[in-house]
Amino acid sequence: MSDIVCKIGHKEIDRQHEELELLIGQIDGFCVRSGEEGAACEQCPDAQIVLCRQQASDIVRHLLKFVSMHFRYEQELMRRLPDNEECRDHVRRHQLAHAELSAQISRIAGQLREGAPFALATKIQTVLENWTGAHIAGLDRRMSELHRGHHNGELDDDAELAVLLDRHVHS
Ligand SMILES: [Fe+2]
Ligand SMILES: [Fe+2]
Repeated sequence: MSDIVCKIGHKEIDRQHEELELLIGQIDGFCVRSGEEGAACEQCPDAQIVLCRQQASDIVRHLLKFVSMHFRYEQELMRRLPDNEECRDHVRRHQLAHAELSAQISRIAGQLREGAPFALATKIQTVLENWTGAHIAGLDRRMSELHRGHHNGELDDDAELAVLLDRHVHS
């Protein structure tokens, strides 16, 4: 794991976070100038920009699908927390944070229909890099602590969660 993502002690969620980090790192992979200083779509012909826009949209769509599955997985785990004030407050704040991030990424992704793909892709990358580390170290870690305090071990063999993962793998 890198400096962005820390382990929270839940095997499946830690695995998903690693995959998320990989996807974030690949967002700008469609651009041949990626990594060059001052890279921008204005340096490329229109036909290339159209192609890049399509590739960027595909990458971001895949990423959003993964993020949505990951959030559903965490929300399923939270549904298993006890019904007390501390847990209810955590679930409310955690779900709100997921909803806000999803809305923010979807908003930028919507601009890919017409905007410069490289600038928009790197904007999504920066938003996710900044958000992910703090969210995992804060709310995700706390969720794992609350979960460990009330359950024994992993829930990987839980039927509902297994179905959720299976659906994602085969979609
Ligand atoms: Fe997470
Ligand atoms: Fe989360």
